[in-house]
Amino acid sequence: MEAKKGNEYKKNKETIFSAIQPSGAMTLGNYLGAIKNWSELQENYKCIFALADLHTITVRQNPENFRKNTIELYALLLACGINPEKSLFFIQSHVHTHSELAWILDCYTQFGELSRMTQFKDKSKKYTDNINAGLFSYPALMAADILLYGADLIPVGEDQKQHVELTRNIAQRFNGIYGETFVVPEAFIPKTGARIMSLQNPKSKMSKSELNPNACIFLTDSQDTIIKKFKRAVTDSGTQVKFTPEEKTGINNLMNIYSTFENKTFDEIEKEFEGKGYGVFKTAVAESVIANLLPIQEKFKEYISDKEYLQKKYRQSAITALEISENTLKRAKEKIGFIVN
Ligand code: AMP
Ligand code: TRP
Repeated sequence: MEAKKGNEYKKNKETIFSAIQPSGAMTLGNYLGAIKNWSELQENYKCIFALADLHTITVRQNPENFRKNTIELYALLLACGINPEKSLFFIQSHVHTHSELAWILDCYTQFGELSRMTQFKDKSKKYTDNINAGLFSYPALMAADILLYGADLIPVGEDQKQHVELTRNIAQRFNGIYGETFVVPEAFIPKTGARIMSLQNPKSKMSKSELNPNACIFLTDSQDTIIKKFKRAVTDSGTQVKFTPEEKTGINNLMNIYSTFENKTFDEIEKEFEGKGYGVFKTAVAESVIANLLPIQEKFKEYISDKEYLQKKYRQSAITALEISENTLKRAKEKIGFIVN
């Protein structure tokens, strides 16, 4: 299902759930593929967002960095417009129902299904010395996150679509055995920005774990760094700013970024840069990114310096999240035949 625009959201009271891992600094890919969308959705949906820190330990973390990344990401999401007065925004590990339902759902998820997950295949190639059981059953925890809140729509980037599909299968399987228990969710993929590619290798997605530091724009990058990274962005031998759908060129990627920030169609962008060459276009993209990130960077500085406020917000949200999710967990346990008091 594609994201709708403007008025189509209105009068809609469906529940949205999404989460992001505090596994490092947030990238432009995360922002355009997920977070920008989240803050817009808050206006017309009941929204629930989480920092998926339990997911993060499927890859070994340094404790100090992990704590720092988590609190910084909480502040950064507030700076991106996640409003804790409008949405529930909590830290996954603060709400114990997630790991409990994850175990239960593990028992309703097949080895074959988990083996087919692209992310598992990729990560087990990348972290060959730590292919742990958590990495394998990760999608069952993600299913628990989603199903606990009866979420209808799950705004994620392209790469997470397969996990949402698996969540649907798990929910349908459970409902098939025990009768209606879980809401069957749907992925909600943005029209543009769903897949921002690496600036150095436009055939692979922009990822914080890529080794070349020029490949990835971080939300907290300085203006100079952003300009430098865009100037070095890999393109091709052409000169004309033109979108070529089937080819994954660097120019397509830059057009995608520019189009999402400036709200312009590819046609409009092609006209704007007709006869101007790649250099001028790269500078325009960099300036657009800087202008859009600047207000976020300023708010981030304010939030991160007020730890008390952050703590108050994540604690309050965890209490509410627990209240909601405990009901779902209890219902599921009753259906299975656990003795619940
Ligand atoms: P992660 O950083 O893997 O926890 O991803 C958090 C969210 O950002 C998920 O919804 C991803 O689908 C989305 N995302 C991550 N990288 C990209 C990218 N390069 N382009 C678009 N969306 C992305
Ligand atoms: N697995 C997601 C990612 O890496 C993060 C995530 C965890 C998530 N639980 C979720 C996303 C539930 C959507 C819904 O990006």
